[in-house]
Amino acid sequence: MIEHPTRDAGFGVYVHWPFCLAKCPYCDFNSHVRHQPVDEARFVAAFRREIAHVADLTPGRIVTSVFLGGGTPSLMQPETVGALLDAIGGAWTVAPDSEVTLEANPTSVEAGRFRGYRTAGVNRVSLGVQALNDPDLRRLGRMHTAAEAMAAVRVAAAIFDRYSFDLIYARPDQTPDAWAAELKEAIGHAAEHLSLYQLTIEAGTAYERLHAAGALVVPDAEAARALFDVTQAVCEAHGLPAYEISNHARPGAESRHNLVYWRYGEYVGIGPGAHGRLVTASGRVATATERHPEAWLDRVERAGHGFIEDTLLTLEEEGDEFLLMGLRLREGVDPARYLALTGRPLDRSRIRALEADGLIAQPGRGRLAVTPAGFPVLDAVVADLAA
Ligand SMILES: C[S@@+](CC[C@H](N)C(=O)[O-])C[C@H]1O[C@@H](n2cnc3c(N)ncnc32)[C@H](O)[C@@H]1O
Ligand code: SF4
Repeated sequence: MIEHPTRDAGFGVYVHWPFCLAKCPYCDFNSHVRHQPVDEARFVAAFRREIAHVADLTPGRIVTSVFLGGGTPSLMQPETVGALLDAIGGAWTVAPDSEVTLEANPTSVEAGRFRGYRTAGVNRVSLGVQALNDPDLRRLGRMHTAAEAMAAVRVAAAIFDRYSFDLIYARPDQTPDAWAAELKEAIGHAAEHLSLYQLTIEAGTAYERLHAAGALVVPDAEAARALFDVTQAVCEAHGLPAYEISNHARPGAESRHNLVYWRYGEYVGIGPGAHGRLVTASGRVATATERHPEAWLDRVERAGHGFIEDTLLTLEEEGDEFLLMGLRLREGVDPARYLALTGRPLDRSRIRALEADGLIAQPGRGRLAVTPAGFPVLDAVVADLAA
């Protein structure tokens, strides 16, 4: 195993399933709609080849988490998921207590596959609920109702020990009171984990066009800040504190896979448009695959993998990424690891200035963390520290 200050952040495997039944108007993920059935067997064969290729580059690793993300992985047949997990198990040693998450859309059809996913080896699902009222779900372009989503959550709870669901807030016309009530209702259905994302207007989406034309009005910065504050207060009061800027969990129930990213561990990205960070003898390498699903298939079938990027990061880039990821976490970062990664310490005068502004704190054990006041301006804090 290569010595590198990745600490014990784990080794994660991300697999991207790039298809959805429809494109949601706010979403800029690598997701595509196909009007012909997707040839899952052909994709499985390509996933197998790409997994074997990356496994050759990462010998001896022990997989601590697998994340099947999308797109909509819950459109896959359970047999497809089983074949993928078998390929991962054949390529690396998988830790017996590894977390295996599948992202699912909460329709009744998809909930009908949950038992099959569990048999295939999935032990956690993450459901894209997004809102708990039908008018907002329609405006978000979702294909499920609130009742259907809650039924899917109940199925997940009956089948899996661990599940989470996502909500999007800072929706048009959303008031802090309405959001607080919706969030309390959500917490009533949540077991251990919730992802709460502030609506972002992403480039190239239908929402961006509507927003630019004045047909979609979202809360301004001040209103969004009030909604963020409500999110923190309600979740904290109900035992689901934020462990990351958008993720809340009962202590101990954090998503282990996402912690691999935020703790700057090592992960491989398999499938169209997936990103990875591999630790090699020369340093940390950023990988990315071809985004377009059928072009990715062609490449894998010709070359054995779909990688189009394979870039050795400079020490400075590693340091920037380490801060960008780690400062999203409430636990913050260990400055000693920054020094070990980059060969230079963080600037003490900048730390003092940000501390004086109340944006970062030193919560003990030598760590450095962004404060609740700093989270809404996280990007600026990171840019300042990394400069
Ligand atoms: C890969 S996506 C979706 C997984 C699944 N396909 C679904 O839609 O339920 C992961 C999550 O990102 C969030 N998301 C996507 N686009 C967003 C945006 N523009 N603003 C805020 N959250 C967004 C949604 O909550 C979504 O569930
Ligand atoms: S939000 Fe989910 S279902 Fe909607 S387009 Fe994006 S990935 Fe697909």
